[in-house]
Amino acid sequence: MVALERLGWQRFDHDPALAWWVEHARPAARAAIADPANAHWLRCGGTWFAGVNVLPNAADGSIGESGSLRGRAVEAAGALVGTTPRWDAAQISVIHPGYPRQEGETDAAFRYRLTRDAAHVDGLLRLGPDNRRFIREPHAFVLGIALTESDATASPLVVWQGSQKVIRKALLAALRDHPPETWPDVDVTDAYHAARRACFETCPRIAVHARPGEAYLIHRLALHGVSPWGEGASADPDGRMIAYFRPVMARIEDWLAC
Ligand SMILES: [Fe+2]
Repeated sequence: MVALERLGWQRFDHDPALAWWVEHARPAARAAIADPANAHWLRCGGTWFAGVNVLPNAADGSIGESGSLRGRAVEAAGALVGTTPRWDAAQISVIHPGYPRQEGETDAAFRYRLTRDAAHVDGLLRLGPDNRRFIREPHAFVLGIALTESDATASPLVVWQGSQKVIRKALLAALRDHPPETWPDVDVTDAYHAARRACFETCPRIAVHARPGEAYLIHRLALHGVSPWGEGASADPDGRMIAYFRPVMARIEDWLAC
């Protein structure tokens, strides 16, 4: 797990065990996307289906006749939490040509999506009338599994390499004078924004591409986002479809630990 701790991301080559799971997950993902009950997940003028927790997989990751979620990336993810994770329902994120289109966003938010890939750290929720940031959904990691073929420039996930160290240091400094039991209620907005700016200036932006059977892990504190659809890029008719598993951690102390 050296690469993940050092770089903030790690890619896994084609794995037959994972490819088997993908063959079973893809039709279930298509059904979830077509379900009118999930139509509210369409964003950005129809160019992004956000699909949070829409895959009806079991706690062992199985879907249909796939058997439990297995493979090298899955084992590496398990090593991070010291056990086989109980898998939450996967997010199915689908990006289509033309992403992003402006819809329901301020000009500033759309500009940030376009020029900074809507970069964020998972778990820092915007709350209250002033959209202040609080640590409320600390994930153990982000495991991304490609479900369709896509070009490397078809809106890949991007990660700021090494950003997890910058984010960790900034948040620990912001929380230093507060007892851990109050951390969910500490407003970390200013520290987070300053750390994000520092990441843009000092960390290389890496595009992480995967084909079906391949996967990647993103460090839980790494700054990441989605690139706009590249000029002339193509993907399967389904679009660029990724399943993301993001199991929640119990303690913010563990989330911020090395
Ligand atoms: Fe994210």
